[in-house]
Amino acid sequence: MNTIWSHIQGVQTLYLSRKLRFHDVFSPQYQRTFALDPAADLKILEIGCGPGALSESLHRWFPRAQITGIDRDSAFIAFARENIPGVSFQEGDATNLPFPDNSFDVCISNTVQEHVEPSAFWGEQLRVLKPGGVCLCLSARKGLHCTAPCLEQTAAERAFWESLPETDDTFQRYGVGKYVVSEAELPASMERYGFSNVSTGYAVIDLTPDAPKYPPELAELMIESMRQNDLEAIQSVHAPGADRAIEAVHAKYDERLRLYRAGVKQWNTEVSVTMMVRGVKR
Ligand SMILES: C[S@@+](CC[C@H](N)C(=O)[O-])C[C@H]1O[C@@H](n2cnc3c(N)ncnc32)[C@H](O)[C@@H]1O
Repeated sequence: MNTIWSHIQGVQTLYLSRKLRFHDVFSPQYQRTFALDPAADLKILEIGCGPGALSESLHRWFPRAQITGIDRDSAFIAFARENIPGVSFQEGDATNLPFPDNSFDVCISNTVQEHVEPSAFWGEQLRVLKPGGVCLCLSARKGLHCTAPCLEQTAAERAFWESLPETDDTFQRYGVGKYVVSEAELPASMERYGFSNVSTGYAVIDLTPDAPKYPPELAELMIESMRQNDLEAIQSVHAPGADRAIEAVHAKYDERLRLYRAGVKQWNTEVSVTMMVRGVKR
């Protein structure tokens, strides 16, 4: 039983943010770099799948594929098993994958490489991939964030966050982001650990609820994802003042939704950039 990660990033927050990032409207950007045959009977392994949103999208994008998601965190795996049909989820460690050699056509991961020791991360994928199999490593890069006046931090939230002790060594303790590398080093690392035909691509995910190109259900999902992020951040701390801060968060996102529905544009935006590195096992 390991729930380290779900304490750092809440289950709902991670699931909703990835549900957006891997929404079908962005699928063509991923598909170009994935370069996989949607009609093939692929065996796909998602490493560090978290609550499973990428696997869920892969299941729609590659309906004939047999997909397995693996993660060390039991809370994520329990959530994924309960909420995502059609994919097999199991607990396990990326540094010691519980699968035989040469058993998958594709290994994929999103924002996992930077947390796992490189020789084990790449070596295990190389081992479980079939010859000719494809490794896809997705990595979040610097994006843009612009809020709207109605979403500024409220006095109750500020009071809550300022009341907390300043030092938090969670990231160092659990090695979060210990193996972050640059955009140039990531493909070089994949090559160094034995992959060939390495190529790169970028997906730009524009989350601007007021953009007319997005249908209302997607725009509202963006607003709800932001709400969830703020709520779970407060809830995860268990400190006095949380109730007032939570109430304030609900009030501001209720207002944001009201403005959206009334057509009063706020233009707040979150743009994330996902780097994709693709390599082949010889
Ligand atoms: C930033 S989260 C990303 C989760 C998921 N890929 C997503 O995009 O929603 C990193 C994930 O890697 C998992 N993880 C970290 N080290 C791991 C390891 N050695 N074996 C398996 N999973 C690991 C964590 O539990 C966490 O779910």
